[in-house]
Amino acid sequence: MKNLGILLSGRGSNFEAIAKNVLAGKIPARIAAVISNREEARGLALAREMGFETRYVPSQGKNRETYDQEIVALLKAFRVDLVCLAGFMRILSPAFIREFPRRILNIHPALLPSFAGLDAQKRALEYGVKFSGCTVHIVDEGVDTGPIVCQAVVPVKDDDSEETLAARILAEEHRIYSEAICLMLEDRVGIVGRRALRKK
Ligand code: GRF
Repeated sequence: MKNLGILLSGRGSNFEAIAKNVLAGKIPARIAAVISNREEARGLALAREMGFETRYVPSQGKNRETYDQEIVALLKAFRVDLVCLAGFMRILSPAFIREFPRRILNIHPALLPSFAGLDAQKRALEYGVKFSGCTVHIVDEGVDTGPIVCQAVVPVKDDDSEETLAARILAEEHRIYSEAICLMLEDRVGIVGRRALRKK
């Protein structure tokens, strides 16, 4: 059985959706550890309540390399095979990414490469796009730039607020993150150039 490591900083709804699918046997893996850079993250409390191993790793006074080394050491100690960023509000150093080549996933609340970075739902709404969505991608050294594993599209309605659009996108995030995790765990994704293609 492969081991997942979840990194989060906040609400943890993506973690929760993944955990439910793991517990229901829909994802062929265990959650080995849930790690947060924020002690007050709801996701961390939830993980604790659900009985998973949790760690709070504060970042104050540490440079990015030192901090990332700490996280990498933890992930290795927990024998993590696939790292899932689930609302982890930090950029990973190249050294971190090298330790888990093509084995780090991230979820982004827009159709990449549109609206990379923060406040994606707000910027999509303000831009006036008629469709937005979410993207699960393999993490590389850029911000929201790695090969795309799964995407889902949602309509933007005329009367949407940032909140209603974000909620519609979030429901799809919860679905496609687990789908992407399964594809990666089952080694059904091959990388050709920057395309992540389903193996036959
Ligand atoms: C999600 O919108 C995700 O796409 C983005 O951060 C948010 C995390 O939400 N990367 P949650 O903590 O999983 O509820």
